This record gives sequence, C-alpha cells and structure tokens, in this order.
Amino acid sequence: MDKNFKRTLITTALPYANGPVHIGHLAGVYVPADIYARYLRLCGRDVLLIGGSDEHGVPITIRARKEGVTPQDVVDRYHKLIKDSFEELGISFDVYSRTTSETHAETASDFFRHIYEKGGFVEKSSMQFYDEGAGRFITDRNVVGECPVCHAPGAYGDQCEKCGSSLSATELINPVSAETGNTPVLRETFHWYLPLDRWQPALEKWILDGHKEWRSNVYGQCKSWLDQGLQPRAVTRDLDWGIPVPVEGADGKVLYVWFDAPIGYISNTKELLPDSWETWWKDPETRIINFIGKDNIVFHCIIFPAMLMAYGDGYQLPDNVPSNEFLNLEGDKISTSRNWAVWLHEYLRDFPGKQDVLRYVLTANAPETKDNDFTWADFQARNNNELVAILGNFVNRAMVLTHKYFDGTVPAPGAFNEADEKMLAELRESIAALTDSIENFHFREALRQAMDIARLGNRYLQETEPWKTAKTDMDRTATVLYLAIQLCANLSIAFAPFLPFMSQKLVHMLGGDTITWAMLGCTDLVPAGARIQQPELLFDKIDDEAVQAQLKRLEDTKKANLEAAWKPAPQQADVDFDTFCRADLRIGTVLECERVPKADKLLRFLIDDGTGTPRTIVSGIAKSYPDPAALKGLQVVFIANLPPRKLRGIESQGMLLSAEDKDGRLVLASISQPVAPGAQVK
Ligand code: MF3
Ligand code: ZN
Repeated sequence: MDKNFKRTLITTALPYANGPVHIGHLAGVYVPADIYARYLRLCGRDVLLIGGSDEHGVPITIRARKEGVTPQDVVDRYHKLIKDSFEELGISFDVYSRTTSETHAETASDFFRHIYEKGGFVEKSSMQFYDEGAGRFITDRNVVGECPVCHAPGAYGDQCEKCGSSLSATELINPVSAETGNTPVLRETFHWYLPLDRWQPALEKWILDGHKEWRSNVYGQCKSWLDQGLQPRAVTRDLDWGIPVPVEGADGKVLYVWFDAPIGYISNTKELLPDSWETWWKDPETRIINFIGKDNIVFHCIIFPAMLMAYGDGYQLPDNVPSNEFLNLEGDKISTSRNWAVWLHEYLRDFPGKQDVLRYVLTANAPETKDNDFTWADFQARNNNELVAILGNFVNRAMVLTHKYFDGTVPAPGAFNEADEKMLAELRESIAALTDSIENFHFREALRQAMDIARLGNRYLQETEPWKTAKTDMDRTATVLYLAIQLCANLSIAFAPFLPFMSQKLVHMLGGDTITWAMLGCTDLVPAGARIQQPELLFDKIDDEAVQAQLKRLEDTKKANLEAAWKPAPQQADVDFDTFCRADLRIGTVLECERVPKADKLLRFLIDDGTGTPRTIVSGIAKSYPDPAALKGLQVVFIANLPPRKLRGIESQGMLLSAEDKDGRLVLASISQPVAPGAQVK
C-alpha cells in the first residue's frame, strides 16, 4: 500500500431495500469490504466503512403496489432487516444509513443543482411509453413484448434475455406493460442527460493510463465501454418515487436511481461526520475504495466518476474498485424472484452463533476472478475439515496440553532449537504472504495463508511431541508449549479480519486484550507466567441433518418454481377419427402389482382383461407409486393392441394410460364406476 495515504474511505454497494440480502451479496461485496476495513483498523490506519440502503428505483414501487403498501413501507421493512442482519454477521460499518434520509435528499439535490448550474447537463426530448390506464410513464425495463431480433416472447424493453440483444422499448413487437398488461402509447417527454462523451478523454487518462493495476475484469469492462465511445445518459425519470429534480419545470420528474444512489456514499459520510466529512472526499491524501459486484462496474468506474468530475470542487475519484464476479448456489444462478438463494437472515436463524463459518466459506469460495459455486456439502466440509479439524483442533490441543502439564500457566521457554526456528521462519513467511494478499485484495488467498499458520501449528506439535518429552524433558515441553501458545495468539490476529467472533473469543481465552496487526509474528504475545483460561471449543461440527434440511428447502423451492411455471402442453395436430378408433382402449382390473427388480422406474402389473388369461403390462410409473401392492383391485385404462415389447426381459402386452401432473408425478387413468374387465373405452 502506498504509505502516502492518510486515510481510507471504503464504500460498499448500497443494496436495494427491496428484499433481504443473500450470500451472493455477501461474498461479492460485504464480507471482502469488512475484511479489508478490519485489517486496516488493526494496522492502526484511519478508515471508514460506509454502507446503507438504496431505497429508490422502480422495482420498489412495483413491489409496493403488488403488496398494497407504500414504497416507504417496503424500504422501512427491508432497511431494518438488512441492517440488523449485517450487524449480526459482524460487518463493521461505521455508518449504515439510507437514501431516503433527509441528508441524502439535500446532498443529492445539491449535486444535481450544482452540475445543472455549471451547464453540465444536456436536455433532450424523446418518445416514452405511457400507460394510460395507470396514468404513468413506464420505464423500458417494464415494457415486455416480442423480440424484434429473435422473435422470442417476453423480451424486456431494454434487453432480450433469449438472444442477448440490447433493445429500446419502442422496437418491441406488441409491447405491453409488464405490470398492468395494458398496451402503452408513446408520449413525448424530456430528460436531463449527463454527457459522458465530454468526460471520455479524462476518464481514459484516469483509468486506461492511470489504473492498470485494477483487476482485469474491471479494467477490461471499462476499456470496452470507452472503446465503444461514451454516450450521454439520462439522469432523470418520470416517476413519483425518488428525489424530485430540484429545478424549475421538472414536475413529475425524479433523479434516476443510479444518479442518486452513489451520492449516498457521500451523504452517509456526512451523516456520520457532519463537520469533517469533506476531508474524506476531497483531500488528495484520502484513498477511496469501492467494493462492488460486477454488474455495478460501469456505474462506479464511468458514470459516478463523471458525475464527480462534473461537480468538481475537489471531489476525489476512487483509487480502486475491487469488483467480484457472481456466486452461484448449488450450480444455479442466485435469483431473488425464484427464491434461489441462501438469505442472510434465515442463515442467522438456522445457524445461530455460526457467523464466522459463513464468513469463512464465502471467503474461501469468493468469486474473485470467476463465478463460483456455493454448495451446502462444501459448507459442511469446510467447517468440519478445516475450521474444526485444523484451526479449532490446534488451538484446543495447545491449550489442553498447557493446562495438563503447566496447570494453565504459560511456561518459561528455554533456548529455541532448530525445529523451533524452522517453525518461526515459516510463520513469518505466511504472515508476509498473508499481508501482501490482503493489501492486494486477494482475500481468498489470504484466508488460505492464515489457515496455513494453523496447519503449521498442528505439524509443529506432531513433530515435537510435547506429550512424549513431558516424560523425560520438561524444559523442552515448556519451550514447545510456550511457542504453541504464541502461535495461538498469532492465529487470533491473523484471522481477526476474517473471523472476528472466533478471534475475540480466542484473545479472551488467552487472557489478552487489544490486538494489532504489528503484533503478528511476535513470540512474546502471551508472556511466560500468564494464566490462560480453560479452552472452549472454537467451532463444532455441522451434522448431516442440518445440511439435509437446507437441501430440502432448496428442493422444495425448485419444485414450487416448476409448478408455478407449469402450462398445459400445446394441443397436438388433428388426428382423423378412424385412426383414433384403431387404438383398442380397454378397462382392466389389477390382480397383482410389484416392482421390477433393479429397475427403479418400472412396475409389473398382472391385469384381468376379461379373457380369463391375465395380461402382463410393464409400466414406468414406479416413482409415483411407492406402494404397488396397494393398487390391487384398481380398474385402469390400457391400450390392448400395441405390439408386445420386452422391458427388462419381461414382455409387456400393452400400455397403461396415465397423466403427468405439474410436479412430474404420473397418475394412472381410471374410471368413475366399476365396469366389467375387458370393456372397451370408446
Ligand atoms: N443497489 C444497487 C445494486 O444492488 C447498487 C447501488 S451502489 C450505489 O445493484 F453506488 F449506487 F450506491
Ligand atoms: Zn431476442
């Protein structure tokens, strides 16, 4: 890190207060930002971690209308839920405010007005869809229709998700409002645009020449935007939810949510430090770091910086914008609308006291360079095989042995031998690598390097065998356990940015108090003669049952989604009557029914078809009928004149009719009243 910086302002993308936060948000933004903030604080640096809710935007208004409440009700509910759950997870925000605050309304209005007065906007009129039934304009995203490119139905007014074409709403074929289903009409409106093209040279110089060190995903996206040539972007909208455009003649217009939201970083700093906030934004010796997800890159690297330049007055641009790729869940894209997520507030409820486990797993799997996958099996394995078996185990062994041989008093060490020196050299190496990784935003790597210290501890005890030397050489045992305890203290520091709850507990168990990053590597952190507490387990195993319950919930979600999306199959082409009549459909009575061995889908039926010779029919419905014997006596419909077919060595003389339900379950066709076996169905 460049030591010339006096302070670091860390911002985290403001989540929409339109739903709870999930593991994708956490892994992408909040956990890494918190690690970095905690690290800098441990280094004694001046740092602020800024967060807050993004409470404007169209989706919030839609949700409110759907629920029959006001947008303010929606954001009040989620702001509280999100704020509380972040706090419980230990995300150490210095401020967590909201974009519906008064300070923010003032700050964002001033931002617009100031740029407006400097001539920093251009005004343009355009044709926009208007829903006459609802009496309001519709944003492009909320118009749906047939894609003009691939002709898929359900394309959005800004993009077709089928073929990926970027569209404008007026190009859609048969457009309707996604919300009301009304066919909209075009109406003329006007908006203020931020002419990004004016800032193109300055942005190129700043990013392409000045920030080659940014992550390649960030740099690459910026380069591609700049190479395409920047266009003016509208920064106002015709809506009734948002910050009113603070100039004459702007009735019914509000600031575009992406104009006001990043200003929220400034408003929230102001709210925290009403007198000194400017130092954090305008002093060149402040370093600004924006933690975001990859879908936010253009807003943070191009649009917001252009806004800051347009405003002028000394506002500093970000020094780095560490942006993560996406986290998937069990192989599928996380989706709020499909409820395909692990929600933070539910995790906290289902795994009380296990905040650090989630922080650990999300960091170990952080999508830093490519999309990554969260699975519950991996969650369990990382807890049981790493946190419990490596970190927890080492600390426990070191402390238990110290109690056993020295009654819980840290013994005075003798001279260090070669094994000790080797261990200490490795410790210092890991610490240097760990520090370097954090400084460069490689948190996943950093976590591995912290865990290497615990691995080192286990190896050290294995090699020095203090339980053996205790029989012959108590001085040697004293040295080994002294050093083992110092390693524990080092672990409490090395893991502090990642696992703050564990760290605090461990510091306390070792009788410590304050820790700093500079203490890392020291071998006198817990002095000889100090008393340590009885060790408590730092982590405990997560059993299969807990994991199964989570998987079950996901399975239920998947099922519910399939059912919600179910539609009857389109009707088949016409069939002429004679052809239909040639199918000989009959009623039969089930005499016997059993599973076909080693075939998990097949049932073998013996059917009374009225001929006196029972007919064998094999049917692929075993999954839907777990108790085949119970089918005895049921009257079923079968096709009698299909050519016989061998299935698993059994000749099937016909086929049973069944219907497939929404969830894929097969249900046998039957009749409403008993009839004679062999009766024809016509
Ligand atoms: N709410 C936006 C999202 O979730 C992020 C806003 S970041 C800010 O994608 F900079 F605009 F605040
Ligand atoms: Zn298309």
